[in-house]
Amino acid sequence: MTQEPQPKVLFSRKEINVAVKRLAKAITADYLGKHPVIISILKGSFVFTADLIRLLDFPLEVEFIRLSSYGKEKESSGKIDLIQGLHIPIKGREVLVVEDIVDTGRTLTYLLDYLRHMEPATLRLCALTDKPSRRQVPVKIDYLGFTVPNKFIVGYGIDWDEKYRHLPNICVIEEELSE
Ligand code: IMP
Ligand code: MG
Repeated sequence: MTQEPQPKVLFSRKEINVAVKRLAKAITADYLGKHPVIISILKGSFVFTADLIRLLDFPLEVEFIRLSSYGKEKESSGKIDLIQGLHIPIKGREVLVVEDIVDTGRTLTYLLDYLRHMEPATLRLCALTDKPSRRQVPVKIDYLGFTVPNKFIVGYGIDWDEKYRHLPNICVIEEELSE
C-alpha cells in the first residue's frame, strides 16, 4: 500500500533566509536606481518573491505570469501552457524573472523567449533552486539560491499536486512503500 509521501527537510527556514538575503544584496547592487520590473512565475515562486522583494529597498514593480503545472506528475510533460501572460509593456525596461526551480530548463527557455520578444533592455533570471543534473536545455541563472539534488522538492511555495506549498522549509518528498 502506498502512503502519503513524507516531507524531509532539505533547507531550513533559517538557511532559506540567509540565501534570500544574499540574493537581495546581489540584486540591489545591480538594480539600485534602475526601477526594474520583477516578474514572478506563479504559482511556485510566490513565497520566494514575497520574501525577496521585501529586502529590496528601491523602486520596482512586480508582475506575475502563470504557467502550467505538472499536476500529479513529477516529470514535466514538456508541453508548456501560458495560463496568464504579461499585460504591461516591458520594452526598454530592466526585467528580472523570479522562478522557483530550474529543472530541465524547458519552462524557462520558453518563458525567456516569450519575454525577449517584448524587447526589454535587460532580462535576467533569479532562481531559488537549480537541479543541474536534469538539464536538457541550457539556462543562464544570474542569481541562484540553492543547487539541489535530483529529488522532488516541495515547500516554501513549491508544490506537488497543489500540496505542501505552505511548508516553511524546502523539503524532499520520497514515497514510502510498505506492505
Ligand atoms: P522545467 O521546465 O523542467 O525546468 O520545469 C520547471 C518547473 O517544473 C518548475 O518551475 C516547477 O514548477 C516544476 N518542478 C520541477 N522540479 C520540481 C520539483 O522538484 N518540485 C516541484 N516542482 C518542480
Ligand atoms: Mg514553476
